[in-house]
Amino acid sequence: MENQLKTILAEVKKAVAKATPADYETLRVEYLGRKAELSQILRQVKDMSDAEKKTLGRIGNEVKTEITNLIETLNSGTGQGIPAHFDPTLPGIAPEGGHLHPITQMTEQLVELFGTLGFSVAEGPEVELEKFNFDLLNIPADHPARDEWDTFWIRNVDGAEDNILLRTQTSPVQLRYMQDHKPPIRIIAPGRTFRYEAEDATHSSTFNQLECLLVDENISISHLKATLQILVDSVLGSDTKIRLRPSFFPFTEPSFELDAWSQGKWLELGGAGMVHPQVLKNGGIDSHKYSGFAFGIGIDRLVLLKHGITDIRPLLSGDLNFLKQF
Ligand code: DAH
Repeated sequence: MENQLKTILAEVKKAVAKATPADYETLRVEYLGRKAELSQILRQVKDMSDAEKKTLGRIGNEVKTEITNLIETLNSGTGQGIPAHFDPTLPGIAPEGGHLHPITQMTEQLVELFGTLGFSVAEGPEVELEKFNFDLLNIPADHPARDEWDTFWIRNVDGAEDNILLRTQTSPVQLRYMQDHKPPIRIIAPGRTFRYEAEDATHSSTFNQLECLLVDENISISHLKATLQILVDSVLGSDTKIRLRPSFFPFTEPSFELDAWSQGKWLELGGAGMVHPQVLKNGGIDSHKYSGFAFGIGIDRLVLLKHGITDIRPLLSGDLNFLKQF
């Protein structure tokens, strides 16, 4: 049987050498069709002993592949296996491509923008230690400001060094970074944050912030305001009016709320301020020599503004019919 297969193969080689593309279909039926000798031999394989099945099955398939490849070289005369009935004038079927989530798009836009300003990206864990999320940011356990951040606490693990929680803000990345790096520091930290609160059109228990920290000598509020202006212009269009409204955060002094003028009203985008000297110290930085600014803005809010979306919930739902629009 093996010899039979070899003979067929040799025959096909000869036939193909003499053939033209016009013979493609005839040769295909003759050597690969249901009634072809090869097909008949391959059909017998199933009735053979296991040992025979193994060797003959393998050789049979190899020969079949080789014959198919030989005959296909005649196909439409291109030798590339394009079917003879292929009509290149027919319009194609466009594959439906996916795209990045609008929040990811916004994050990437901001990372790129801040990259051009010399900021690099820092990251911290979403499951955070209490000391980074609160204490080192100047928010001790008994501080009333803790009420500002409704926290998802995680049940303590035996032997854990500290209480654990879902970070309520991206500000803990500031501390993690300062403890490992010396000034000058220029970082942004985009990431997911979590608050234990009722969800509605403008509040979600999961949301995204962009944290920014700059520490160097002689840093002032002008640096902060100029940086915020660049950010807002990039998202809402150049020369968007912004204002810094006095506010309070334990980790900045002075502290501000950032507002931008859009569609006839002031919109709140996030918090900002000059890094509190105690926070610099907690980060191992000499607060007499260095000063810094920081801010944290809501990335989701920027997405809502940019696209004129009024409800945050579908943005985080994974609903493709909604997300496809962006
Ligand atoms: N972490 C604050 C919040 O989530 C926002 C914030 C305010 C971040 C002032 C800062 C800052 O870096 O300087 O409400």
